[in-house]
Amino acid sequence: MRKKIVAGNWKMHGSLQQNAVLLEQLLNGMAGLDCELVVCPPYPYLPQVAGLLAGSQAKFGAQNLSEHHSGAYTGEVSASMLVDLGCRYVLVGHSERRALYGESDSVVAAKFEAAHKAGLVPVLCLGETLAEREAGATDSVVLAQLQAVIDRVGVAALSSAVLAYEPVWAIGTGLTASPEQAQQVHAVLRSRVAELDSVVAAGLPILYGGSVKPQNAAELFAQPDIDGGLIGGASLVAGDFLAICRAVV
Ligand code: 13P
Repeated sequence: MRKKIVAGNWKMHGSLQQNAVLLEQLLNGMAGLDCELVVCPPYPYLPQVAGLLAGSQAKFGAQNLSEHHSGAYTGEVSASMLVDLGCRYVLVGHSERRALYGESDSVVAAKFEAAHKAGLVPVLCLGETLAEREAGATDSVVLAQLQAVIDRVGVAALSSAVLAYEPVWAIGTGLTASPEQAQQVHAVLRSRVAELDSVVAAGLPILYGGSVKPQNAAELFAQPDIDGGLIGGASLVAGDFLAICRAVV
């Protein structure tokens, strides 16, 4: 059985006080979950989150990292710094990083490699824009995003990674991919990996992200190739995030 994961991407939200309340509510409600619960706060709150989650089953990660080890890269944060702070996961290539900060497929692949080499679990985000979907290019876009990483690190590196399919048109818009649309893309991604290594493909968690809510989580997670979720807005509301976690089958 593949690992099931529900990860909250807080994006640029939170404060010391809000985080403390949210995490306390999550800790109080997470007993008996059938998935790994992960939160990805903004960098400055990682030590706070590490402290509050210590001794619990929950894991945490960062939303980004530098592709470089160290050096004159003002404002950047390296993989080893995230390891120092106790991160288990790191998001790589979120569509907001790609679109707003110009991260190309090759930069994303370099970040993936940096995370992998440091022992972090990269959560590689893949997804098409609305224009790309309407042009019938969804599969080719996500496969090219995946291929850039495989070309750099090899398929074996995916045995300690997670994929997250996040259609750009579904992020923060209230539009969700239908369970069938999401399943189709997840299956395409898994098949591509299986062509290279069937064992890696069978064990690779592929999360869905994009307007996941308590109301639509169960039908998404019921799909055979959807192994959990990457949750934005709803991860900031403890009751909603826990309800999504409980929808994992
Ligand atoms: P929303 O759940 O707010 O649509 O965000 C999805 C996302 O981008 C998670 O990384």
